[in-house]
Amino acid sequence: MQQLKTCKRKTLDDEFYTMYKDVVRELHKYDLRNKKIICPCDNKESNIYKYLKDCYYDVKCDDKEWRNIDYSKYDLVITNPPFSQVREFIRYLISINMDFIIIVSDVLRYGIKKGKTNFGVKIYQGKDAQKFYRPDGSIKAIHCGWISTISDTWEENIIIEGDDNE
Ligand SMILES: C[S@@+](CC[C@H](N)C(=O)[O-])C[C@H]1O[C@@H](n2cnc3c(N)ncnc32)[C@H](O)[C@@H]1O
Repeated sequence: MQQLKTCKRKTLDDEFYTMYKDVVRELHKYDLRNKKIICPCDNKESNIYKYLKDCYYDVKCDDKEWRNIDYSKYDLVITNPPFSQVREFIRYLISINMDFIIIVSDVLRYGIKKGKTNFGVKIYQGKDAQKFYRPDGSIKAIHCGWISTISDTWEENIIIEGDDNE
């Protein structure tokens, strides 16, 4: 049987690396000056980390274990977390009042929009990110996109959870 090349998350690992252009498309909308940023699931090869460095932001990366980071030293998390741990990751950050701008699957974004997850904070939906590099250099299509707990400076992003007007 031929294996589908898309939407086969369950048979794959967490190694999907974000494209630089998908980082620019979302992050250029935020004014991140004066923010201490941690990328907890990124090493120095990550395009998220590279973009933030290229912009001279105050950023550190640490792909060892996101659970062991002292988040009190930072103002903001920006990353593409492992898909297999994403809900735990989000709930943990919310429990310590840590703001984030992260990439998640469209399935999760849809669930948030439909009120199925109820994270209990305001969550914004940003740009889509639909292609990722695999460790062998190939490109895999997966329907994902950015979400955040802070508004982008241009106020383009829409609220998908916690809208006061709902
Ligand atoms: C979806 S990939 C994104 C990688 C990279 N940040 C990027 O966007 O190019 C998630 C990464 O988290 C790493 N990871 C898995 N478990 C982790 C953990 N407990 N703590 C930190 N990083 C983890 C994986 O090895 C993987 O490289």
